[in-house]
Amino acid sequence: MGAITADGCPVEVYLLLPPAGEPEVVHAAIPPGASILELGCGAGRITHPLVELGHEVVAVDDAPEMLAHVRAETVCARIGDLDLGRTFDAVLLGSHLVNTALDSDRRALLAAARRHLAPSGRLVVEWHPPEWFAAAASGQGGRLGEVAVELADVVRDGDLLSATVRYAARGRRWEQEFTCRRLSLDDVLAGADLAFDGWLTADRNWFAARARRRG
Ligand SMILES: C[S@@+](CC[C@H](N)C(=O)[O-])C[C@H]1O[C@@H](n2cnc3c(N)ncnc32)[C@H](O)[C@@H]1O
Repeated sequence: MGAITADGCPVEVYLLLPPAGEPEVVHAAIPPGASILELGCGAGRITHPLVELGHEVVAVDDAPEMLAHVRAETVCARIGDLDLGRTFDAVLLGSHLVNTALDSDRRALLAAARRHLAPSGRLVVEWHPPEWFAAAASGQGGRLGEVAVELADVVRDGDLLSATVRYAARGRRWEQEFTCRRLSLDDVLAGADLAFDGWLTADRNWFAARARRRG
């Protein structure tokens, strides 16, 4: 049995999953060569292409079993506790981490992102937009590289949606349970000293934010 992160990610699966356009979305949203702080980097699925695209990436995760595979500067920390004393041209908060069920966790994630953002820097967020919560259904899925991915056991409770993701590859199976919260942009940005700075993809799964201007 391979390692499972605190949030339930099977490390072996993240080593098999290829990127699915995420590095290109991030790269197109920020200046060439921009420095990036990547929050929740996993095994480097997004990190490595970003490095190849010319970015200096500092990759953060609280799972040493994930970080062991990352070929970039790494920091093993809870995102909410992170305080590197430096800022970046871009901060990447991907993988729907912002949809965490707990408001206090979300506030901590966004505060960490904000305190590492250079004055002219851009926060790049991948989230589940409200319409995803309406559309999500058991049985949805597809294939990412050699990994078959299927959503199962979808249960709604007000703004919360719980489900299991089933992965299969190389004759093996893994499951990851999660609960996420439907949010408005205002829920995400208000109180975080951040301002919306545009959609990055037509499906509204990605958006950018900047530090609010003062005065
Ligand atoms: C769903 S995986 C995605 C990994 C990577 N972003 C990718 O797309 O392949 C989420 C990762 O974020 C990490 N993570 C989740 N919450 C975290 C937190 N509060 N602090 C540090 N790492 C966290 C997990 O350990 C895991 O490696």
